[in-house]
Amino acid sequence: MKKPDEIGPAEGKLGVLLPGFGAVATTFVAGVEAARRGLAEPIGSLTQMNTIRLGKRTDNNTPLIKDFTPLAGLEDLVFGAWDPIPDDGYESAVNAGVLHKEQHLDPIRDFLSTIEPMPAVFDTDYVKKLEGPNVKNGATKKELAEQLRQDIRDFKAEHGCDRLVMIWCGSTEVYIRPSDVHANVEAFEKGMEENHPDIAPSQLYAYAAIMEGVPYANGAPNLSADNAALEELAKREGVPIAGKDFKTGQTLMKTILAPGFKTRMLGMSGWFSTNILGNRDGEVLDDPESFKSKEVSKLGVLESILQPEMYPTLYGDLYHKVRINYYPPRGDNKEGWDNIDIFGWMGYGMQIKIDFLCRDSILAAPIVLDLALFLDLAGRAGWSGIQEWLSFYFKSPQTAPGLYAEHDIFIQHWKLKNTLRWLMGEEMITHLGVEYYD
Ligand SMILES: NC(=O)c1ccc[n+]([C@@H]2O[C@H](COP(=O)([O-])OP(=O)(O)OC[C@H]3O[C@@H](n4cnc5c(N)ncnc54)[C@H](O)[C@@H]3O)[C@@H](O)[C@H]2O)c1
Repeated sequence: MKKPDEIGPAEGKLGVLLPGFGAVATTFVAGVEAARRGLAEPIGSLTQMNTIRLGKRTDNNTPLIKDFTPLAGLEDLVFGAWDPIPDDGYESAVNAGVLHKEQHLDPIRDFLSTIEPMPAVFDTDYVKKLEGPNVKNGATKKELAEQLRQDIRDFKAEHGCDRLVMIWCGSTEVYIRPSDVHANVEAFEKGMEENHPDIAPSQLYAYAAIMEGVPYANGAPNLSADNAALEELAKREGVPIAGKDFKTGQTLMKTILAPGFKTRMLGMSGWFSTNILGNRDGEVLDDPESFKSKEVSKLGVLESILQPEMYPTLYGDLYHKVRINYYPPRGDNKEGWDNIDIFGWMGYGMQIKIDFLCRDSILAAPIVLDLALFLDLAGRAGWSGIQEWLSFYFKSPQTAPGLYAEHDIFIQHWKLKNTLRWLMGEEMITHLGVEYYD
């Protein structure tokens, strides 16, 4: 990744394309529209609310990120979606039950109901617990990917967009490991022609986006653009990609708390996490194969932060368990319980209990916004391939081959801001601060 000589301007409309128009996607779109009308604040969004310190502490120069970097404005965003369920934005948001119908959805119904999802590339082999009539037909996966590319071109022309980004907000697909078909672009394209079973719909959206020069992020834990073939394609086509699995709820708490215990060199013998949730996501995750994708994504976090191989006395015997239980009465308002067994001086044990009455989509929506704006920025800066500086937003950050992912949220945040400083030609901040004592 090179520092660009110049960054393309954030002029004109930015189209945000959303495969999957369920709870997260509609909450995101509704929140942006509410903010544009002055009905709500974009809380949780770094691009809209966070400041960035420039120069020395004594300089008192801390602009908002959105004033410091040339980001698209909220008023320039237009939205498109695909979903096998044909509900428009208003119907889907009401059905998701995240936002209050009378208070927050009815006032923007005129806007939300204009967004109708395009027919999806969807296959029940990959998401077992869903049925939907709004789907594309094609003899091969290659043909389906070409239909998506046409949708992208049509959307861009119809809405007069200057640029596009795509954020996967679709259901979690079954667990697939990268295989020979993901080894390189040639194998992947051949695999699409031959309907290879390891190529799931989300990979076709990612392929279509990259081929159309559209930055792509994956908000779900399933395999999508995180394989050698699509990473190669993204570099070849000069397109930024990022993933995967939005960091919200319980994993957000883990990456906030675990670095704290570790900095104090406190030991940990167990972390048991269980969730009950009753939305469509919960129903899809009730299928063991979709749950497997989620479980792998959630489990990696602690091990990577605590580094048991370096601290066997403290973390060598850690028992880490994650359960997700579908419980319809809870709707989108998930409850996540954590029991953490830690130990301190001379091995004395202590327990910490967390009961997080969480609203998943409320935490995910600002992530979608920030990813859309930052990926668009990356595209205009001429950056391509994996955007590790956006790890902050993901449970399983995508990294260059052979590089371990950084999960500590504070390091991720620092890295994100330093990347912005570097991009804009400012000094990076190390927090060394010796100069104040000369
Ligand atoms: N809510 C969170 O905090 C959070 C956090 C991390 C990850 N995620 C992931 O984000 C995704 C969306 O979550 P949600 O709560 O909005 O779920 P949801 O079930 O409300 O919405 C997902 C939508 O995707 C659609 N879909 C499924 N397959 C599709 C395909 N091939 N093409 C187009 N659309 C398709 C479904 O019909 C559904 O409407 C899930 O994969 C979830 O695991 C959510």
